[in-house]
Amino acid sequence: MKTGDQFAGDEFIVLGIESSCDDTGVALITNDRKILANIVISQNSEHKKFQGVVPEIAARSHMKNLDDAIKSALSEASISIQRVSAIAATSGPGLIGGVITGCMYAKALSSTLNKPFIAINHLEGHALTARLTNDIPYPFLLLLASGGHCQFVAVLGLGNYKILGATLDDAVGEAFDKVAKMLNLPFPGGPHIEKRAKLGDAHKYILPKPIIHQQNCNMSFSGLKTSVNQLIKSIGELDNSHINDIAASFQYTIAQVLSTKTLRAAEIFTEISNAKNIVIAGGVAANQYLKEYISAKISVLGYSLITPPISLCTDNAAMIAYAGVERYSAKLFNSLDFCPRARWSLEEI
Ligand code: KG4
Ligand code: ZN
Repeated sequence: MKTGDQFAGDEFIVLGIESSCDDTGVALITNDRKILANIVISQNSEHKKFQGVVPEIAARSHMKNLDDAIKSALSEASISIQRVSAIAATSGPGLIGGVITGCMYAKALSSTLNKPFIAINHLEGHALTARLTNDIPYPFLLLLASGGHCQFVAVLGLGNYKILGATLDDAVGEAFDKVAKMLNLPFPGGPHIEKRAKLGDAHKYILPKPIIHQQNCNMSFSGLKTSVNQLIKSIGELDNSHINDIAASFQYTIAQVLSTKTLRAAEIFTEISNAKNIVIAGGVAANQYLKEYISAKISVLGYSLITPPISLCTDNAAMIAYAGVERYSAKLFNSLDFCPRARWSLEEI
């Protein structure tokens, strides 16, 4: 790969923008999957005191951060904006203020530079990350586990997704965040629960696993969350060992649910394909304990578990730019009148 502005022939670079939640991201990726830059400006400190993401604050911060993020990305890649071949931006689903901010910014750049605009579904970004990092072929089975989504998806090809099962209530990341809040741990809660769980006894408290025995790959986490709440009330004042034991027992219960349902999803997936790759993507895929637990269960049946590196599991623009690379190669562009969407299922792409 040449550096700077000296690209030639079929080589291309996609600039990706991510702004669907509380991180402002800008990335540059080449046709041969080189990440030239991947800038994330976190808004954690602005939302921390509210123990959750405040949509209005997020949208304003994206507006403030995008210019800087783009300048930093171009400078890190040592290229000028004219060298970019297409602009890809998360255009849904997500917090609509942030989605509109990133999408409009991308459209303005596309119009000014006269380069194609590509509207990326944020979930497609998560879904394809493992192809960026591990070069795995289509089709594969995906467990998308993030703060807003929890679903099993047969990824059959670019833009060809079939949802096999999903949570009926809370997303698994949301359950981590809510339980963390009950335990007075900082937001986002997932990494803090994982850390505390290492110090606790996973068998101390027996927690419910709603609908685990149903012969499908749907999931439910809200009853589990309510049980943890009742448990905390029954204990009264929590000391460190209570917090560690509850974190460990909760995480162990999630591991049991996700591994059981992954095996069900794999069974359903066999009716579609013989492929043996299972990918976990989304923020919860950063959890090492869950990955090891699920991997041990599925490897017995000949499946391989693939998870992108942690920095590409949580929201980032590299995954958006990469989905843009696949769409650019397939000449799948969008017109500038594309409307950003708060809700946008993978099956509707
Ligand atoms: O994909 P993501 O960055 O944003 C969404 O699109 O939702 O996922 C964020 C979610 C949060 O709920 C966060 O608590 C969870 O991912 N998460 C984790 C871990 N790291 C992040 N959950 C469990 N264990 C972790 N280590
Ligand atoms: Zn996400």
